[in-house]
Amino acid sequence: MIVILLGPPGAGKGTQAQTIAKTRGIVQLSTGDMLRAAVKAGTEVGKQADAIMKSGGLVSDDIVIRIIADRIQEPDCANGFLLDGFPRTLPQAVGLDTLLEKTGKPLDVVVEIKVDDTALIDRITGRYTCAKCGTGYHDTFKTPKVENTCDACGSHEFSRRADDNAETVKSRLMAYYRETAPLIGYYFAKGKLKSIDGMAKIDEVERQLNTVLDAAAA
Ligand code: AP5
Ligand code: MG
Repeated sequence: MIVILLGPPGAGKGTQAQTIAKTRGIVQLSTGDMLRAAVKAGTEVGKQADAIMKSGGLVSDDIVIRIIADRIQEPDCANGFLLDGFPRTLPQAVGLDTLLEKTGKPLDVVVEIKVDDTALIDRITGRYTCAKCGTGYHDTFKTPKVENTCDACGSHEFSRRADDNAETVKSRLMAYYRETAPLIGYYFAKGKLKSIDGMAKIDEVERQLNTVLDAAAA
């Protein structure tokens, strides 16, 4: 199935996408992760994206649409994919419509994860990930079962994102409300939108998400 997770920075898109990808066997496509990998690898795209991401702005539509267009053609996307952080602007949503028309596969559902703005800052400033496998954690809300050891791969190395600071979060939130929030209306009008309560505990959000996905798959 083809699913979009929509929500502000820190809403829990990545956290839920990682779990759903594992339990349902569909690929997580995070444009944020792909762009961070490009920055780390020093590619041309990475060079163009680096400063924009650090400032909390949005990378150009052309670049991210091209990244997604290439990625969804790979064999592991044949069973479907879960888009985490894409589309993020109306031109990206229209670009995705065009790409899906070409593949003949319909978009199943867009899930909006609703979270209060005040909670987002805490979530983002407390976030860290396993440096080896990318599993996400939080200083308070999701700590590893064994201290300083990744639950998924056992690594002891963790990292924090360059854009995860209180100042950049404000720019990211502005970009969300200016560019991405209009997509809620776009997908509502298409009859694809479902909303879940992202303020609930991580397990409860997962339960709500699974209920929505089961209904969309039926
Ligand atoms: P991206 O990587 O997509 O970042 P984002 O949208 O800002 O979202 P986050 O990854 O910060 O939040 P999340 O919703 O995934 O939250 P998470 O699950 O980690 O994009 C980064 C940058 O790349 C952008 O600013 C832009 O420059 C560029 N970019 C990317 N895509 C682009 C595009 N399409 N177009 C243009 N530019 C693009 O959760 C956060 C924390 O909270 C974690 O620590 C987690 O453990 C915790 N948490 C999660 N759920 C809960 C819960 N229910 N209760 C308590 N804590 C929770
Ligand atoms: Mg994320």
